Amino acid sequence: MNILILNGPNLNMLGLREPEIYGNNTYQDLENYLKGLESVYHITTDIKQSNLEGIMIDILHYANDRFDGVILNAGAFTHYSYALYDAIKSISIPVVEVHLSDINNREDFRKISVIKDACVASFMGLGFQSYEEGIKELLKRMK
Ligand code: DQA
Repeated sequence: MNILILNGPNLNMLGLREPEIYGNNTYQDLENYLKGLESVYHITTDIKQSNLEGIMIDILHYANDRFDGVILNAGAFTHYSYALYDAIKSISIPVVEVHLSDINNREDFRKISVIKDACVASFMGLGFQSYEEGIKELLKRMK
């Protein structure tokens, strides 16, 4: 199984941004962690990050039929990007929403995910492990 892992705005700042929420691990640490899961789950991954909504949409379109599924941490776009919602709806591969933090236990504006209903599942609040849960979910669906 070939999985696209797409990270949105400000995730490149991991380790520096709000460590009390996101921890001290850097974006490179996240990439290393995800690469380490390849041999555990017998998968291949492509890991991308963009701070730009349009680029994320282009990447999702590109992923269609080239990957078996997508793990998406849309960052703050989660809470207001109907364009990302439409992009997820416009492709036919499953997309799993993930978040490092528990968006339901933070500011009110984070409690709404406008992309949730376009995704096959959501995992949050587990740090890096949210991504692993997402991968397991995709594997379950591929069986
Ligand atoms: C996040 C949660 C979002 O609310 C926030 O804007 C992020 C990161 C997370 O992984 O916890 O940038 O998606």
